[in-house]
Amino acid sequence: MKNNSPRQLIWEFLVDTERSQGYINLGIEKLHQNLPEKERSFATELVFGSVRQRLRLDWTLERYLSREIDSELRELLRLGAYESLFMRTPAHAVVFEYVELAKKVLGSARSTMVNAVLRKIVANQEVLRDPNGLSLEVETSHPEWIVNSFAQIIQGEEELRAELHSHNEAAAVQAVSFTNLDPDEAQKDVRMPFGYSLKKPPHEIKEIRTGSGFIQDFGSQIIAEILLATDPERKYQWLDLCAGPGGKFTYLAHFLSKNQLAGIELHEHRSKLIRDRNPGYQITTGDAGNVKERLGEEGAEVSAPFQRILIDAPCTGLGALRRRPDARWRKRESDLKSLLDLQRNLLLSGAGLLDDEGIIGYATCSPHILETKVQVADFLRKNSDFQIHRINPAWIDSDYHSAITDQGFLQLMTGEHSTDGMFLALLERKKKE
Ligand SMILES: C[S@@+](CC[C@H](N)C(=O)[O-])C[C@H]1O[C@@H](n2cnc3c(N)ncnc32)[C@H](O)[C@@H]1O
Repeated sequence: MKNNSPRQLIWEFLVDTERSQGYINLGIEKLHQNLPEKERSFATELVFGSVRQRLRLDWTLERYLSREIDSELRELLRLGAYESLFMRTPAHAVVFEYVELAKKVLGSARSTMVNAVLRKIVANQEVLRDPNGLSLEVETSHPEWIVNSFAQIIQGEEELRAELHSHNEAAAVQAVSFTNLDPDEAQKDVRMPFGYSLKKPPHEIKEIRTGSGFIQDFGSQIIAEILLATDPERKYQWLDLCAGPGGKFTYLAHFLSKNQLAGIELHEHRSKLIRDRNPGYQITTGDAGNVKERLGEEGAEVSAPFQRILIDAPCTGLGALRRRPDARWRKRESDLKSLLDLQRNLLLSGAGLLDDEGIIGYATCSPHILETKVQVADFLRKNSDFQIHRINPAWIDSDYHSAITDQGFLQLMTGEHSTDGMFLALLERKKKE
């Protein structure tokens, strides 16, 4: 193991992750542990980049392949093509490194093919880098249905292109900490009350290791801040209806006491994560549509009705493609229908637990029109006792004001705001006459 080159370890990691249907962003730490420190950023770029650019790389390979190839060989060729086209590794090094690796892990027949294909790629790299004439799917390396989903909400081809390209860019890891972090380790962001961009890997920062700070995209922090702004005196009873794994819950819990904030989560292993991070808070495991009677069990102070309910609903996650490089290849348009049904039911469950004068914060980490505006319009049409509570721009930094829509929702976009593409609508039960 020790003598294996970084490229071999990277290739093995990608082949294993694909085989086990694991997640790249969750497994990369383990890969890092097997690599010398100086190779880690190279590995991150090669892994994340080659996975994001898979469609573009496969399109490139198809030009030079005359027959079907197996997935191990394809993964190795993708790595070589990525280094040649996107990392500008010298041509001779690309060919040498991957032919040697292929000889070792795939045998001489397949290494001959690696040699032939990579030689052609490096010889044509200038032409292959040129995006002119490519479809937007190939140019930006996104499946067609995802390109179409973004085309529905972004006006203008250049704006659409920029948004899609932004999903391929590496971004600083964002975190929240309620105590100051060392400026050598993390840069405080003036736009966020408690937000930092990390300068070091998370496990090297004491506050993150011990849980007093945690990784959280600014988009999620903005959602929590907006919700908190609707209860400036902290006088209401709050429920987080889809609380696991607990990022937003943990943010809210910093401001709301155990007698004020409760959570519901479908899966016990996720409930446990929230409890571990927030000892003493009441987390009920179960389907949000089914747990009303159990809320407030065991003598807890928090029970329905609630004045503030966060529904951070399961969704396609199209707003988080930058952070999850493999997500775009796993999601299917056919996943959408069951997610839309689930979101609709969660909104109804929330309405059933809400007080006469309460507000539901309905959030998704997807800007897909059906999961956001259309879902909300459908809810309002069927629930005439609700109306939109417009998000007040004064609650967030002016850099994010362009995310507030004409209807008073929040729609962050990765390209424009450098956050996850989070959506938030505040839905208020109308006051009785
Ligand atoms: C988008 S995640 C929430 C993320 C969380 N708010 C955070 O910031 O860490 C949605 C969560 O809803 C949970 N969930 C799915 N269906 C549910 C249901 N019917 N009732 C309660 N929770 C549900 C999922 O298990 C998942 O943990």
